[in-house]
Amino acid sequence: MSPVNSHHLAIIGGSGCYGFPELCPHSVAAINTPYGVATGIIASAEHGARRVYFLPRHGQGHTVAPHKINYRANIWALKSLGVGKILALNAVGSIHSPPGTWFLPNQIIDYTYGREHTFYDDFNQKINHIEFTEPLNIHLINTLSQVLDATSLNVIAAGVYGCTQGPRLETAAEIQRLERDGCTMVGMTLMPEAALAAELSMAYVSLCLSVNWAAGKSTAPITFDAIAACLAQEHSRLSQHWNAIISALHEAAL
Ligand code: HPA
Repeated sequence: MSPVNSHHLAIIGGSGCYGFPELCPHSVAAINTPYGVATGIIASAEHGARRVYFLPRHGQGHTVAPHKINYRANIWALKSLGVGKILALNAVGSIHSPPGTWFLPNQIIDYTYGREHTFYDDFNQKINHIEFTEPLNIHLINTLSQVLDATSLNVIAAGVYGCTQGPRLETAAEIQRLERDGCTMVGMTLMPEAALAAELSMAYVSLCLSVNWAAGKSTAPITFDAIAACLAQEHSRLSQHWNAIISALHEAAL
């Protein structure tokens, strides 16, 4: 990869968030990387001298399952475009808080398996064990927390994200285990994305929306109609704040 100025921002959209035509109107051609082609269309908009790119993690038509996402290609492509900060949007099930709660997790437990999860697995390459004690960037967490505190969104600026393999949801016993481990939310997409961003020295923050009680945490069944309704309502509320969020993230000192 040629050296780049890493001063652009990328938003990686998750379930229910496939683009911002008003913010990111320009398409970027499919980006080839040593790891394959990045998922979906990456669109960019100018914000002064800085750009914001948008990458729908599951593809435009939500066709790529969490365990099939080419996380390495996506992160490599963003790095090659000069992205230094990433805001990831992730849908989660919550263990203690009702659906409709937003989280800025500060910790991760990775329960995934079999995913291509590192750029450092070439026998001809020097081994690199990246530091990952604080997997999510605290400066970006604090920045987002300040912006979102001024809104009517219900935001908890901490939490432990348990990343499961999917695509099925968990059993009640699996959620009890995650709870004993200290997880406060469960999702399928934060890993290896966060670690790959760290391997390429990109500042990474995740804004999670709880769209359901995690399995066994409510007597009501988990339905996809209820999840879709929650995603639509909360993303529409969030969308009123995109300009403030993007400006604050661009300005945030690391
Ligand atoms: N489990 C895992 N991933 C999820 C969930 C869940 O309950 N809800 C949204 N993404």
